[in-house]
Amino acid sequence: MDNNTSANPAGSHGPIVSLRRVRKNFGSLRVLDDVSFEIAPGQVASLIGRSGSGKSTALRCIDRLETVQDGEIFVDGLPVHDPALELRSLRLRVGMVFQSYNLFPHLTIEQNIMLAPCKVRRIEKAAARDLAHHVLAQVGLLDKRASYPEQMSGGQQQRAAIARSLAMQPKVMLFDEVTSALDPELTGEVLKVIEGLAADGMTMLMVTHEMGFARRVSNKIVFMHKGRVWEEGTPAILTNPQTEELSQFVKSEL
Ligand SMILES: Nc1ncnc2c1ncn2[C@@H]1O[C@H](COP(=O)(O)OP(=O)(O)OP(=O)(O)O)[C@@H](O)[C@H]1O
Ligand SMILES: [Mg+2]
Repeated sequence: MDNNTSANPAGSHGPIVSLRRVRKNFGSLRVLDDVSFEIAPGQVASLIGRSGSGKSTALRCIDRLETVQDGEIFVDGLPVHDPALELRSLRLRVGMVFQSYNLFPHLTIEQNIMLAPCKVRRIEKAAARDLAHHVLAQVGLLDKRASYPEQMSGGQQQRAAIARSLAMQPKVMLFDEVTSALDPELTGEVLKVIEGLAADGMTMLMVTHEMGFARRVSNKIVFMHKGRVWEEGTPAILTNPQTEELSQFVKSEL
């Protein structure tokens, strides 16, 4: 485990995301137990592990949807664990996409995407529309910009949700099982979009059960078990697990 506490997380060459000895409890249940890992600029990391191992909680702590009991989390130098942190500055840096798309049904895709840049980043409408077109082209949905969510497939809605996050021009994208509600053919088109972002150099942390995808696209794997980082390394750890737990997990996911 990389536990280099002498690194300066606020430095421009430091990691985009850094967790140090993070502890998180829900009541008496310890869900994150001494969790430490880092994501460097441009790195694509996959967070894997059995159900209940703490993957979603880790992502939610990075975006401060949950607060931690102990330890430190830095995002682009911002101390996320600090109760005084201004959340707006964090939200400008982190894009998060979930299994559910949460698009506004009464707005077109273009309007859905323009909303946050206008309200949160206070960008002019015309510039926000240009931005919306740019990110829609990135996810292959420019021709759907005037459609309403219900007129699109699940895969298209998820790609629109990704575009909505991209429009905020985040420093890091967090994906939590974004394809698990989709049919296999729709899963493929969403994974292709994520793969494109990886190729463009976007820093990403994704929770995924798509092992083949994780192996192909990510350059870092973090395997969590019982709230701990059990194994961590390049995708090679999936073919050569050092622990019985990862070995079992890889077999179960085949
Ligand atoms: N808001 C909450 N209140 C209480 N317990 C919670 C809460 N959220 C999560 N937990 C518990 O924390 C543990 C870790 O949950 P988490 O959702 O992080 O797991 P996960 O690795 O994402 O699992 P999955 O693969 O099923 O999504 C589980 O035991 C879960 O029941
Ligand atoms: Mg989860």
